[in-house]
Amino acid sequence: MRQAGRYLPEYRELRSKAGSFLDLCFTPSLAAEVTLQPVRRFQFDAAILFSDILVVPHALGQTVTFEAGEGPRLTPAIGADKLDGLDESFKLAPELNLEALAAVFETIGLVRAALPPNVALLGFCGAPWTVATYMVAGHGTPDQGPARLLAYRAPEAFGKLIDLLVRASIDYLVAQFRAGVDAVQLFDTWAGVLPPQEFARWCIEPAATIVAGVRRQVPGAKIIGFPRGAGTSLLRYLEKVEVNAVGLDWMTDRVFARGNVQALRAVQGNLDPLVLVAGGSALDREVDAVLQAFSGGPFIFNLGHGILPETPIAHVEQMLGRIRQ
Ligand code: CP3
Repeated sequence: MRQAGRYLPEYRELRSKAGSFLDLCFTPSLAAEVTLQPVRRFQFDAAILFSDILVVPHALGQTVTFEAGEGPRLTPAIGADKLDGLDESFKLAPELNLEALAAVFETIGLVRAALPPNVALLGFCGAPWTVATYMVAGHGTPDQGPARLLAYRAPEAFGKLIDLLVRASIDYLVAQFRAGVDAVQLFDTWAGVLPPQEFARWCIEPAATIVAGVRRQVPGAKIIGFPRGAGTSLLRYLEKVEVNAVGLDWMTDRVFARGNVQALRAVQGNLDPLVLVAGGSALDREVDAVLQAFSGGPFIFNLGHGILPETPIAHVEQMLGRIRQ
């Protein structure tokens, strides 16, 4: 999950000098520095590339900006009413222009060269459904209603958008591996707003195609899936999607996950990011509960979603001290 970001003063300082958020993502020396900052401070076992899932819509032709305090804005938004002609009307590129993302691959090279060899570098992209929700609404929404509405009203047109994103994700992840990442994570942050049938169609199928497509070009590619909010549908996801590991969000029942999910794949997670803000004995108790649930099998300790900007650094240190003990 996110390691960099506003909870770190060294990030805030660099961010204020870099201009826009995308300028920061697309300046390799700065993006590499932001990637390394949390590893330097906390000696994590892996670094996650500093970038964003929305560089893909940017490279496909939408204008993407990040307004302070407002989150991302994508224009022109596709909207919930578009019944056909997605690519023609929105001038989306028919495929991902990797040239537009050259700075990302350069960043990967810089980070890999700077990291100790025993620290893994993770690349990532957004899963098609999650990326599409932003492309359709043009911004974040509480329940991604606009994309869900479009998928119900015009499944064929919406399917074309998802197919475009599937192809783009394969190209993008393969290029990240070639640039030097050790593993990648597929972030489906908004998987949990879909009912089971829609989840199968817009999350499971695309993820299965992406994993198979990447491995065709990068045999043995290590891939972590993160269908946030999938709940018990995780089992159906893992039947079809050949990821090596699965990220568990903080709502996941750990007894269920240990018995049913960890038997199938390595698990990653799932500390509640809010208990990291709370600190104190609640944090100790929850860290212990995560370790107790998952230490018996293949397991990556992580948060159950991104770190919150108001997280005190002392609480991150408390968590790490307890885990390492
Ligand atoms: O360590 C890291 O920070 C890794 C890099 C990373 C970012 N975004 C940087 C970022 C990663 C892996 C992401 C993924 C991402 N981006 C997701 C999927 C995972 C998740 O968190 O759910 C999604 C949905 C996005 C889209 C996105 N980017 C949103 C909705 C926002 C605004 C909300 C917010 O938290 O500010 C962003 C901005 C963003 N991406 C920030 C960072 C560090 C904050 C930007 C800033 O103000 O400096």
